[in-house]
Amino acid sequence: MHTIVYDNPDQLARSTAEKIIGTVEHNPNALLCLAGGETPRLTYRYTAAIAKDKGIDFSAVQFVSLDEWIGVSTSNTGSCYYFLQQMLFAPLDIPSANIHFFDACAVDLDAECKRIDNIIGQLKDIDLMLVGIGMNGHIGFNEPGVAVDQAAHTTVLDISTQQVGQKYFLENTALQKGITLGMAQFMQAQTAILLASGITKAAIIKKALEEEITNAVPASFIQKHGNAFVMLDMAAASLLQ
Ligand code: F6R
Repeated sequence: MHTIVYDNPDQLARSTAEKIIGTVEHNPNALLCLAGGETPRLTYRYTAAIAKDKGIDFSAVQFVSLDEWIGVSTSNTGSCYYFLQQMLFAPLDIPSANIHFFDACAVDLDAECKRIDNIIGQLKDIDLMLVGIGMNGHIGFNEPGVAVDQAAHTTVLDISTQQVGQKYFLENTALQKGITLGMAQFMQAQTAILLASGITKAAIIKKALEEEITNAVPASFIQKHGNAFVMLDMAAASLLQ
């Protein structure tokens, strides 16, 4: 695990964008799994801008969902799909056939998990998985206590995740459950990036990186990942030894 600390959120975002771009330059058919949430917003803005500037072709890149709020449709502005569509898929002209996202309104959500697991299996592993960290240490919607050998699954969300999640929505929304890739898929990704910014993430970053590896803090498993980068700004890193 490599921990890299940047002076400010702008440098953090620019360097993370360059890592995404570098992955695609190296492998134009790469399979990427990119988190929603506030943290990577600037990273995605830079990714789209650098790709345009350098003329990087994203047309063969494949994207797989990290997670989604169950019952929230792709047209809801708070959905992970909508966010990534706005930030990356539309600006980069990603063909819809290359976008493999959970349908969080599917009647059979177990079948939906299997569908996404199979797509990842067919595409042969995730090349780059970029995740944020929840205030409770979650990755995707792998909440504290998660069985870490799981692939895609549905879960009851922590109360804190339900409450914090309201920030993405224009109106109060029921967010009791989520559908998510599992920790097994995180651990198998060729490269994993954990991105965190701001003082509010400092305590959970310290716990995840410097304390025991435990499913009570799912992000702590990054310590065991074979090729992981923890990319932080100074504020998020401020409690590290
Ligand atoms: C969102 C996701 C979540 C967030 C995490 C941090 O797709 O997977 O695990 O990454 O909750 O959210 P922000 O970045 O909004 O602090």
